[in-house]
Amino acid sequence: MRISDCNNIMDFRRLARRNLPAPVFHYLDGGADDEWTLARNTSAFEDYELLPAQLSDVSSIDLKSTLFGEPVDWPVMISPTGASKLFHAAGEPAVARAADKFNMVYSLSTLGTTTIEDVAAIGTNPKMYQLYILKDRGMTADFVERSKAAGFKALCLTVDTPVPGNRERDAVYGFSSGKLRLRSVPSWLRHPGWLYRAVVKKDLEMVNLAASERPSEFKDQSLLDYFNDQLDRSLTWKDVEWLASRWDGPLVVKGVQTVADCRNAANAGATAVMLSNHGGRQLEASPAPVDCIAAVADALHDKLEIICDGGIRRGTHVVKALALGASACSIGRGYLYPLAAGGQAGVESGLGLLRTEIERTMALTGCSSVRNLNTSFVQERR
Ligand code: GLV
Repeated sequence: MRISDCNNIMDFRRLARRNLPAPVFHYLDGGADDEWTLARNTSAFEDYELLPAQLSDVSSIDLKSTLFGEPVDWPVMISPTGASKLFHAAGEPAVARAADKFNMVYSLSTLGTTTIEDVAAIGTNPKMYQLYILKDRGMTADFVERSKAAGFKALCLTVDTPVPGNRERDAVYGFSSGKLRLRSVPSWLRHPGWLYRAVVKKDLEMVNLAASERPSEFKDQSLLDYFNDQLDRSLTWKDVEWLASRWDGPLVVKGVQTVADCRNAANAGATAVMLSNHGGRQLEASPAPVDCIAAVADALHDKLEIICDGGIRRGTHVVKALALGASACSIGRGYLYPLAAGGQAGVESGLGLLRTEIERTMALTGCSSVRNLNTSFVQERR
């Protein structure tokens, strides 16, 4: 199977599985606990049906939209995800270049393997920097200053990670523990190129985190252990106000699901929320983002941009989310599978398929512009 044989996003998953050492594939593919939320993020879309308005002149379909005050060619954005170079040597720059070609928002994660400045230098599409408020507020403030200086349009705070989620596949395959599991040895050995990049070239470092000054007592820790130690369980909405006071552009809070938390985000200074459960990787049993849209849109559509982040694999998913009231959708695994499948060409191919699916779905739904999608086009399945 090759990239050209992929007909949809999930086809790229099969190539990703073939291309990656098993522990790395399962780190990308897996979720928390029994992975109920992970599965539900996508299956929840089946609870909605699209209601076509026939004979509505769909001779041209307009996907153009705005996000964070910037014009974009379609209302889909790239979610922040950690360490893209784990999945392909071309890493974040490959995804950022593909996102630029599709004129969509690209997000860089604090756990990225490319520097803030290197990503900022790519293309002209709007970019978002994602951070966590770490115990070390000086380091947090440095990230804000660096992303501001580099010209990132939006800042995103992830709030669903007071502690790491329970990713059991990582324990089974020995990814997070750093311990070599016997069962994973054949798979590591089948991917010498990956091992060479990781061990000899040391190309998989979370460079932004690594560049930060660490107090001497933390110097011996692995970067991931250091990061996990830095997660601050004491955070409250006051800390979001603190962050908002340091940033004058669009501020996005990622990882909220209830109307109450979205209201808290707006009151603390956020201009957008990402309805998200971290791709089913944090709180197991939390609802699918698509199921959160209607209530949040009803209460807060005039105060916040609402981004549906999680489970999106099909153009129909995007159209349903927008019809329910989302301003945009965000994809994580939806571009990471294509990245692992074939670098920048893989991502471009995956984005192209998704975009084509959205255009076709819009035509078949009888809606010629994403700006006109509304609840008349969607119903809950009975
Ligand atoms: C990082 O945010 C992860 O979910 O692995």
